[in-house]
Amino acid sequence: MRKEQTDFLVIGSGVAGLRAAIELSGEGRVIVITKDVPTESSTEYAQGGIAVALSDEDEVGIHYEDTLRAGDGLCREEAVRALVEEGPERILELISWGAEFDKEAGKKQKLAFGLEAAHSRKRILHAGGDSTGKELERVLIEKARTIPSIRRLPFTMASDLLVEDGACYGAVVVSGRSPLAIFARATVLATGGLGQVYSITTNPQVATGDGYAVAYRAGAALEDMEFVQFHPTSLYLPSAPHFLLTEALRGEGGKLLNIRMEPFMARYHQEMELAPRDVVSRAIFTEMGLTGAEHVYLDLRHMGADFVKKRFPRVFSTCLRYGFDITAQPIPVCPAAHYMMGGVKTDIMGRTNIRGFLAAGEAACTGVHGANRLASNSLLEGLVYGRRAGLSAAESPLSAREVSEKEKAFFFPSAQPYSIPAHDEIRGDLRRLMWQNAGIIRNEASLLSARERIEKWRYITEKSFLSRRELELKNMIEVSALIVRAALLRKNSVGAHFRSDYPQKEGGWQRHISFVRGREE
Ligand code: FUM
Repeated sequence: MRKEQTDFLVIGSGVAGLRAAIELSGEGRVIVITKDVPTESSTEYAQGGIAVALSDEDEVGIHYEDTLRAGDGLCREEAVRALVEEGPERILELISWGAEFDKEAGKKQKLAFGLEAAHSRKRILHAGGDSTGKELERVLIEKARTIPSIRRLPFTMASDLLVEDGACYGAVVVSGRSPLAIFARATVLATGGLGQVYSITTNPQVATGDGYAVAYRAGAALEDMEFVQFHPTSLYLPSAPHFLLTEALRGEGGKLLNIRMEPFMARYHQEMELAPRDVVSRAIFTEMGLTGAEHVYLDLRHMGADFVKKRFPRVFSTCLRYGFDITAQPIPVCPAAHYMMGGVKTDIMGRTNIRGFLAAGEAACTGVHGANRLASNSLLEGLVYGRRAGLSAAESPLSAREVSEKEKAFFFPSAQPYSIPAHDEIRGDLRRLMWQNAGIIRNEASLLSARERIEKWRYITEKSFLSRRELELKNMIEVSALIVRAALLRKNSVGAHFRSDYPQKEGGWQRHISFVRGREE
């Protein structure tokens, strides 16, 4: 097997991975691997914005309270405090690196703050109207490009971590169908989410839950895996993907109607369209059931065509590409898997239960989101916790000498790569199964049936692969099993986890469910 040495390995090139790499770049050589082109991450597709208490009408304490309320009682308070308190500094730093956030009309210097669901203040910064993630990715990639100690390896996917005696020495990665062992003093996991395990998702193709699976196989603790967030509004057109229709559309006044063209949100929550995301998603899902439809509508017509085109250029042009004018017709929408609140369990400095192994961003579970993430807190999390993971990685307890010795000692059996028969069929079946049985509303029977079906594919998780598609499927099966297992164990309804057989928030709801391979914590 080919081998390589570096000081730090960062797995993933979204906001958290790049911010960690930038932090580490003064401390030694950094390799950033990414399984596709560097820009292909959930960050790139984030629309609505980035929440931060920077406006004159806002306060850090109010952002803190809003985040806790959305998290439905399961946030870790110290993690939320770190997020909201450090957030303004990270944003100002990003602006100093060249980020261009939208300004108020006619005021060149005054940042424009938008409103989104469950925020009690206008605090969402946005860029290019609805291309905020793209702007963040642009700035961070540009910044990383100017730093000689950062080397980026595209089309390189982590297969397994190199872990021995509770310490991580890097990872085996697959690049061009051949394995490579990258040895490092510290490894930062920032691989994003897992939306692709569901057949209906806003996430890009790359979001197959790889980081969770790789970490779990290596013995890292995973937490809160039952908490998958479903975004209320993805485009529902038979010929189009489930393109995200940003929360900010409702923040600016977009109205939800059922297929009979009746407003319905007042029946579900007093904050109507701006209720927490889990509430709106369930309300839409329920309304779809009541009307026997596969979608509801999001109506923007009253907002005026000029405003909509200017404020939401990406949504407008994307929908138009599918022959749909959002300024003239109510948009058919349905909820879609969007974000994983759980993940690799970390402290507020990104440290996991494995020495030399850190996690940040959506791959991590700091507890900052609790049972339901507040809209637009994820990009901020990537910046704040990406940097923190970088700081911790720089203080890795492993020395370069230890790593060199390990490099000699690790034995790599020459794995016979296995080829999965009926790969596409299994992938499709798994994704539909997860949507139907472990989606917005679950229960014991649906979850048990999902568990049984997934067990039949379990043999795939024991094999070795040298192709991205096959490694992805292995990881998707692994993380689906973990979601189902956690959802079965949580016999109550909290935040984004709703059990129709236990619809109340009761009976030990405050506990967190953690898994370490081979045992339940
Ligand atoms: O609705 C959105 O633009 C998505 C925001 C988020 O996931 O926080």
